[in-house]
Amino acid sequence: MTTSDTTSGTTSDTTVKIPTEIVTISTVEELRSVLTAHRCAGRDIGFVPTMGFLHDGHASLMRAAAADNDVVVASIFVNPLQFAPDEDLDDYPRDLVRDTALAEAAGVHYLFTPNRDQMYPIKPVATTINVGGLSEGLEAATRPTHFGGVATVVTKLFSIVGTCTAYFGEKDYQQLAIISRMVIDLSLPVMIVGCPIIRETDGLAMSSRNTYLEGADRKAATVLRRALDIGIASIEDGERDPDLVMADMAAVIMEEPLAGLDYVAVVDSASLEQPETLSGEIRLLIAAQVGRPRLIDNCGVTVPE
Ligand code: PAJ
Repeated sequence: MTTSDTTSGTTSDTTVKIPTEIVTISTVEELRSVLTAHRCAGRDIGFVPTMGFLHDGHASLMRAAAADNDVVVASIFVNPLQFAPDEDLDDYPRDLVRDTALAEAAGVHYLFTPNRDQMYPIKPVATTINVGGLSEGLEAATRPTHFGGVATVVTKLFSIVGTCTAYFGEKDYQQLAIISRMVIDLSLPVMIVGCPIIRETDGLAMSSRNTYLEGADRKAATVLRRALDIGIASIEDGERDPDLVMADMAAVIMEEPLAGLDYVAVVDSASLEQPETLSGEIRLLIAAQVGRPRLIDNCGVTVPE
């Protein structure tokens, strides 16, 4: 069998070994070849797609992948297709040295770091993926082109990595729902695992964009978690009207002068549609501008039938 030698990056005839140190690969061809060799050796692949500037939320996905699989791949690619022209594509935080150390400590064997030409050899890209229904509303109301860019790049990454189990955070709940649906609709050979949101000790959901929070905005950013807690408390107190739960959540955000409410939503956790009456698996979602970053957060609640 011809495989890519994971230590030297050269081609050899030996059976590929699981690397003892993280290996950075930046071409599609090399990643495909090494992962094909691992699959031929009977190994499971776990995959964690990211845009880098890693934090413990990303690391939690990598640790989950390492616990379940023989070989763990993470990608770092700041995907231009999912940024609108007025968004932070050029400023998106980057630190590959730190990211490599964090990924290695979390159990990643291969770090895939393609450049834009590797991912999009012919520009503008002519083939895109759009997942209907779930890609409308919530985040898409203010970012109408975002999920098309996400679905397209994730489809490409799945095509490059091949059969695998892929790990996504519930932090981006609508993204997780869209990708889960896309995998079913397109019969992609990928199993999707959703992982819980990792938070700072004061409740702020970890995010690469938290680095944009300055001064008093950092403390004010905890208002999202507080609004979710109020929503849950309201449901636990017996409220079953989603509009009234949303009003309670919105009031918390509006009391914070440094936060600007974008949306609150109380939806069925599978369809992402607002039910008439709350029952079953419900998701509370929120988006607000706090200083420079627009922050999102969400949580789940099971409402007895
Ligand atoms: P990125 O924002 O880097 O996030 C990569 C993965 O980490 C996503 O699945 C996201 O939900 C998860 N994640 C982020 N913060 C988290 C937290 N606090 N707790 C748990 N998981 C968290 O999401 C993207 O990149 C991109 O859209 C991508 C899927 C890579 C496509 O470009």
